[in-house]
Amino acid sequence: MSSARRPRVVILPDETAVARALAGRIADAIGRNPRLVLGLPTGRTPIELYRELVALHEKGRADFSQVTTFNLDEFCGLPPADAGSYRSFMDRHLLAHVNVTPGRVNFLNGAAPDADAECVRYEDAIARAGGIDLQVLGIGTNGHIGFNEPARELHARTHRVTLKPETRRSNARLFGGDPAKVPAEALSMGMATILAARRIVLVATGAAKASCIERVINGGVTTEVPASFLQLHADAELMVDESAAREL
Ligand code: GLP
Repeated sequence: MSSARRPRVVILPDETAVARALAGRIADAIGRNPRLVLGLPTGRTPIELYRELVALHEKGRADFSQVTTFNLDEFCGLPPADAGSYRSFMDRHLLAHVNVTPGRVNFLNGAAPDADAECVRYEDAIARAGGIDLQVLGIGTNGHIGFNEPARELHARTHRVTLKPETRRSNARLFGGDPAKVPAEALSMGMATILAARRIVLVATGAAKASCIERVINGGVTTEVPASFLQLHADAELMVDESAAREL
């Protein structure tokens, strides 16, 4: 493959090294542009990243006061204060521990009475903020990004999705370990919403992600592996640990 291979891949020894390196990059990006618009994921993977970001903030190396955040997705039917919501997850792991300005924190409201209108509102809010400067992504074991699940067709814009059983299983820890308690539907940024970010970093750690990371890098661009669309982006990078890179 040519040296212009996309996305670029950075392999680090372990989860901690990945979290530290990415937190450092985010802090540097905020240092260069204090009004950075940051797209953020949930999941097990970014927990250590958020811990590192909080530590950098406490050391005075990351001032979030003018940063705008947009989370990728949210479960349907849960009010923001529900302990299982992604909003609560982000409060627990990052937002309550740094100096973000509440009005600059953006989430999809999974409890909105009109989901379609809520999706349009979110797209408009991203546009009004000037678009996303740096989008951080995790990846599902089936290659999903946000909640863009493998399918024959993907959605371009923020939309309502029905979650795959595999995805409900991997989110069960937020609901006492019971996949049946995971909401069946979610709202998610679409593929074009994600790919419009000026810079994208996808983070993956652990052996369970190895085969999908291999397909993202070496496979063709396919709706069956939504993350493979990062191959089309001019400034996308994968930061992975050795376990997630073991099939590369
Ligand atoms: C959820 C989120 C995704 C995330 C994925 C991976 O499904 N909607 O944005 O990438 O989980 O989670 P984990 O990091 O726990 O493997």
